[in-house]
Amino acid sequence: MSPEVKHRLSGVQRLLIDGRWQESDEGQVSDVINPSSGLTISRAAMAQYQDVERAVAAARRSFDTGLWTGMTPAQRAKILWRAADLLEEHADELAELEMLDAGKSLAGARGGEIPFAAECFRYYAGWCTKIEGSTKQLSIIPGQEFHAYTRREPIGVAALIVPWNGPLVQAAWKVAPALAAGCSCILKPAEETPLSAVRMGEILMEAGVPAGVFNLLLGEGSTVGQQLAEHADVDKVSFTGSTEVGRKIIDAAKGNLKKVSLELGGKSPVIIFNDADLDEAIAGAAQGIFSNAGQVCVAGSRLYVQESVYDQVLSGLVRIAQDMKVGPATTAGLDMGPLISQRHLNRVCDRVERGLTEGAVLAAGGRRLELDGGYFLEPTILTECDHSHSVVKEEIFGPVLTVIKFSADDDIVPLANDSEYGLAASVWTRDVSKAHKTAAAIKAGLLWINCHGIPDMAIPFGGYKQSGWGRENGYDSLLQYTELKSVVAKL
Ligand code: TAP
Repeated sequence: MSPEVKHRLSGVQRLLIDGRWQESDEGQVSDVINPSSGLTISRAAMAQYQDVERAVAAARRSFDTGLWTGMTPAQRAKILWRAADLLEEHADELAELEMLDAGKSLAGARGGEIPFAAECFRYYAGWCTKIEGSTKQLSIIPGQEFHAYTRREPIGVAALIVPWNGPLVQAAWKVAPALAAGCSCILKPAEETPLSAVRMGEILMEAGVPAGVFNLLLGEGSTVGQQLAEHADVDKVSFTGSTEVGRKIIDAAKGNLKKVSLELGGKSPVIIFNDADLDEAIAGAAQGIFSNAGQVCVAGSRLYVQESVYDQVLSGLVRIAQDMKVGPATTAGLDMGPLISQRHLNRVCDRVERGLTEGAVLAAGGRRLELDGGYFLEPTILTECDHSHSVVKEEIFGPVLTVIKFSADDDIVPLANDSEYGLAASVWTRDVSKAHKTAAAIKAGLLWINCHGIPDMAIPFGGYKQSGWGRENGYDSLLQYTELKSVVAKL
């Protein structure tokens, strides 16, 4: 551990309310656990009722007094750009925090997630000066002149609730567009992963975000998250997490009809046609399910392979799964790290057990690995599955792949669409027409052709059906932190 990270972990991770770092109102703390070892590495303040009240009041005050919206768009853009620079300056430290807190490999976090989070701030810094309305031509009253136009205004106070599987990136995907739009916000990271959110809070303060515009509440979702989602002074809640909690957010938001956007679960199909480049498709399907130990909302967890190449694809995947180096996030040359917690590991193993009792057959993996006290599962492949099996229907959020054979090209779209989710899918074929026709027919928010899981700040990200409401990233995300006002002036 680097000295700065060691020092950071020795103290209590604190809340940020109205520009001041503080412990919780009643002094409650929770343990921060390293999923690679099961050991407690730090403690984090757990916000209580009064802390939430104070954070919302600070955000409200900063918004209503124009602390942030009163700055010019160019001034806000400079601050967001500075935040991106600082994230990059501290990338080694942030990568170490993600490794210790979320079980990310150091190289993966350093080379992927941290620069991506920085890029997110840069991307939205660019939008600050480009938020526009438009002018309108009226027809309703002939002979009279009007000047009519629309304005995009920040929505107000935004509560941003994120999960543990990509702590810094998920937070950046919400904080950056909310701030770019001119909102004041309150971030609530997952209880399991507070560390990078605290560091991000410090960076935002250093970059020049005024006190009260960005607030950080650590603590339990069922209390802190729920209170934020219910709060009458919160105008918008943006949530990433399970479909089950997404429903609770909708219920909680009913009181003041706050605006809600939801990025929820997925059970994404990967479709390999018999004319695909099989080396690429096999490697892509493995990466699609096993990266981040399958704890990825767009994980390609349902694989459909055309009959004539089924055996070849399956044996290639089994070979990859069996050769993967699984271990603590510190392991050199690591292919797959731990699951986030003992509870989650138990949940994933229960799902696999249930699948086996329903008739699925293990082609690879399936066993827990006793390594250094952490929470490990072998990369797991299940065959002989069908759409009545829970492992095919339900999101597992772990390194578990179900493989199903299909015969004719026309058979695949009904199978791929037979899911309550609609987050993502990938199609592997050399036939351009087939690729685009299949992409158009699948009900999902993100379609990849001959690749899987490629994100970009310019690409809207979100789901059809029970995978959510709204989109993250791109201009579409920014708009979700705004209200649209129409102004009609009689001249
Ligand atoms: P959840 O249990 O839903 O938790 C997500 C966040 O919501 C956490 O911060 C959690 O706090 C909080 N929360 C829990 N109960 C709440 C409530 N009643 N009111 C308000 N907030 C509440 O999800 P998870 O198990 O951490 O994450 C896995 C799920 O997230 C998967 O289903 C996955 O597909 C989904 N996910 C989706 C995406 C996208 S972009 N679609 C991305 C990543 C993950 P605590 O930590 O204290 O429980």
